[in-house]
Amino acid sequence: VKDLDAVLVDHAHCEMKAATNALSLVVRHPDDLEIVRALSAIAREELEHFQRVVDFLAARGLSLGHPPVDDYAAALRRKMNELPASDLPLLVDRLLVGALIEARSCERFRLLADALAARLDPLASFYEELFACEARHYTTLVDVAVEVRGDEPLVRARLAELARIEGEIAARLGARPTMHG
Ligand SMILES: [Fe+2]
Ligand SMILES: [Fe+2]
Repeated sequence: VKDLDAVLVDHAHCEMKAATNALSLVVRHPDDLEIVRALSAIAREELEHFQRVVDFLAARGLSLGHPPVDDYAAALRRKMNELPASDLPLLVDRLLVGALIEARSCERFRLLADALAARLDPLASFYEELFACEARHYTTLVDVAVEVRGDEPLVRARLAELARIEGEIAARLGARPTMHG
C-alpha cells in the first residue's frame, strides 16, 4: 500500500496475462466443450478485471506501459520444465501452474484488502471482491486439470509438488510492489 500506483500497474498486467493464458489453454484443448466453457469464462472475468484496473489507472493519471519482466512467472515456467517427465499431459501442468498463480494472487488480494480497509481506502472492496473471484478460479483450474486427466489422486500429487516449488519461488522473490513479489 506504500506504492499502490506500482501495484496497480503490475496488477493490470497480471489480469491481462491471466486472460490470455486462459484463452491459450482453450486453443490447446478445443475438444471438450465443458473445458472450453470453463476456461473462456475465466478469460472473460480476467479481462473484466483488467478493464476495471485500467479505470483505476486512468483515474490516478497513470499509464499502463509495457509489461515488466515477470520473474515469478518465468521462474515457475522454468522449474516446471525442469521437473522430471511425468505421464501427465503438459496441459495438466499448465492448468495447475495457472491454478497456483491464482492462489498466490488470492493471498495477495487478501493482504491488500485488509491493509486498504485499515486505511479506509475505497479500493479495499475491489480487492475483497477479487479475492473471492481468484479463489474460485483456483478451484476451477484444478477441477479442469482433474477432468483432463481423470485421475484425481495423481493430479493432486502433482499439484502438491508444484505448490512446493511455487512456495520456494515466492519466498525468494521478496517484497517489491508487485502482485507476486
Ligand atoms: Fe483476475
Ligand atoms: Fe483469476
